[in-house]
Amino acid sequence: MFMSGGGDSAVSAVLLPVNSVRGKTMTFTVRRSPRRWGPLVAATLFALASAGHASPGSAAVDETQAQPELQTAADVTNADGLETLVSDYETRIPTEYTIDSWEPFAEALTAAADVVEDDSASESEVADAKTELQTAAEELEVLQSTFATITNNTFWKDTAGNPIYSQGGGVFKFGDTYYWYGVHYRGAESYLANPTKKYDDQVSFVSIPVYSSQDLVNWKFENDIATTSTSLGRLGGTMGDAGWIGRLGVAYNENTGKYVLPVQMWHPAHEGGVLFLQGNSPTGAFTFGNFQPQIVNSPTQATGDQTVFTDEDGQDYLIFSNSEGRARAFVSKLRSSDSLYAEPAVEIGRDSSGREGNAMFKLDGKYYMCASDLHGWNTSVNYCLDSTQDRIQGDYTDYYTMPGTQMDYSHVTQTGFFITVEGTVQDTVIYAGDRWADFAWNGIGYNQWVPITKEGTGIRFHSMSQWQFNATTGEFRVAPGNNYILNPDIQADRIIVSNVVGWTRTGSGGVTNVNGGANGSRFALQVSNGSGVRQQMQVPAGTYTLGLHTKGSGRVTVTGADGTVHTLNVSSSSGWTKRELTGIVLPAGTATVTVTGGSGNLIADQFSLVRQGGTDPGSATRHEAEGSGATCTGTIDANHTGYSGSGFCNGANADNAYAEFTVQASAAGTASLSLRYANGGTTGRPGDLIVNGSIVATTAFASTGSWTGWTTQSVTVQLRAGANTVRWDPTTADGLPNVDYLDVAQAAD
Ligand code: GCU
Ligand code: CA
Repeated sequence: MFMSGGGDSAVSAVLLPVNSVRGKTMTFTVRRSPRRWGPLVAATLFALASAGHASPGSAAVDETQAQPELQTAADVTNADGLETLVSDYETRIPTEYTIDSWEPFAEALTAAADVVEDDSASESEVADAKTELQTAAEELEVLQSTFATITNNTFWKDTAGNPIYSQGGGVFKFGDTYYWYGVHYRGAESYLANPTKKYDDQVSFVSIPVYSSQDLVNWKFENDIATTSTSLGRLGGTMGDAGWIGRLGVAYNENTGKYVLPVQMWHPAHEGGVLFLQGNSPTGAFTFGNFQPQIVNSPTQATGDQTVFTDEDGQDYLIFSNSEGRARAFVSKLRSSDSLYAEPAVEIGRDSSGREGNAMFKLDGKYYMCASDLHGWNTSVNYCLDSTQDRIQGDYTDYYTMPGTQMDYSHVTQTGFFITVEGTVQDTVIYAGDRWADFAWNGIGYNQWVPITKEGTGIRFHSMSQWQFNATTGEFRVAPGNNYILNPDIQADRIIVSNVVGWTRTGSGGVTNVNGGANGSRFALQVSNGSGVRQQMQVPAGTYTLGLHTKGSGRVTVTGADGTVHTLNVSSSSGWTKRELTGIVLPAGTATVTVTGGSGNLIADQFSLVRQGGTDPGSATRHEAEGSGATCTGTIDANHTGYSGSGFCNGANADNAYAEFTVQASAAGTASLSLRYANGGTTGRPGDLIVNGSIVATTAFASTGSWTGWTTQSVTVQLRAGANTVRWDPTTADGLPNVDYLDVAQAAD
């Protein structure tokens, strides 16, 4: 959209009252915790308003803030974004999708490619082509789909092996691809480097990274779409001048064909408000679009917390709390002409104790808004309300606690955002929890994701340390490495309590959490002689291992649903000692873990109850074809993009040009081998799969259409404990396709 020059001066005119108010608010400093500036802004503004000064929340803000930033020559065209989209979609392989879903997509792709070629195409033609292509791509139905493993309580890595620095953002689906936007803070790096201490207020802004994924598990770093040097347009200066950048989300505007990122900003000269950035492609650079200090109907300038929710009809909303006290929850439509402005808000919930981390999802036609306690990045249950008339800005229930979040305070997180996955089999919502706690030593990892499903007339949060998700069907399952004990590290409370969350007291003696957990962790459980705690959990039938770290003496038992008691006697130790009880056979049903103190106190931490059969069998180990444990009869090349690691194996075109991997198995048993390859030839390049010297299968390695068209072929084999050789030997003189990596996933039991 081209804007005439008139808007700019109108905008600066209305900023004047804000500036004049700012003149009186010299008490602001960036050194304050960003979590506290909201109420402070409000309090100060209130004081000024009572003293007869203008408040920035006047009606005039509504009209004049509506003017977006003038477009610069660099972004007057949105066609470069379309070009990126087209070249990405040209790598999709028709045979991986149903014919019915491929045809409309192929048509939209051809039409979009024509628009890219057409120099006279207008901005709106480009926007239409982009929207149609994304819509068609969203409808693509994958023929085969697989489960991928999500492991919580770790620092996540991207597909290149670098840490994922993404917090307080959101995941959005454009076409067939999920994009994850968040904020990279300096404190995240400190925390990763040393997770055994607290990092208060280390929230200096580094960048807004974007990652892409098709399975919501493997994330590829795409770009830093905004950095400290991103210009703040008419405000002057750059994003590096802001005291706080956070809580962002992305919307796609069908009218402009642009992606819009509403960001919560606090700036020493402009105070709080929503900064709107926009870009032509989901992964390109974003530039200044608008700054809106206050949303009409919200009592205070700035938002308390905010996320973006996109409804099924494509309409985007800002879900937020007011900054002062955060008692009110609002839904505000993003203006449909360009999404650069939040329209007057509708209040959907109120709780005088304050709620933050506000985020929305939709399941079965119903809207749910959930939020956390208001205690600064602390962990809490999720407080939700849901729509009673299936209207996003209609009536809602009162707040209630989401079932499943009480035992471990939402897997030791604060509400971050939700991802709604409409699967071919079921709809599943992913709860994306933030474990930031000022990057504070409160369990490992910033991101903890768990599924939410409908249960009866309500919803349920399924707290798991490890689970597997199928992004196509929407199905999930507990992963074999899951720890069935909740709040196992005694981290959820974060303050000293005598009723440790998730654990029920038995007996009348002393129970508490104490500072100084095992392995540098923050807290441990302490039970005095004869007293104790227990926790009950649902387990599938299997053989389990109980693990924990202890100091002092006592006893831990695991009682199965059949009443059989498995006892681990803990002999006295003065330092932290790891204890383990293996071979615990449990029938399906309720198991009970009971901890009892011996003479003196028992201090215990890092509990685990995991099914035996490989510690982490669900998550695959990747072996790059260019890696040291692999042999490539040919050359390691890097001339066809899309490979992982630093290259791929281009085998010689000969029938003995094999590729071989050395694979370690923790135990003998079944394993799934997935080989990623590209075959740009027109015919298949079959190969014999030889495991430890015996041919066990022949794989077809069908054409993938191009040398950049990477795909994965999986085979199930038996491995022996220890080292195994896995070799693919071509059966024709064409040799093998290009080989990227081998993923090995050992099955449970
Ligand atoms: C092309 C392609 C190679 C590939 C080779 C082949 O040369 O660039 O990457 O390995 O064909 O047919 O095997
Ligand atoms: Ca080759």
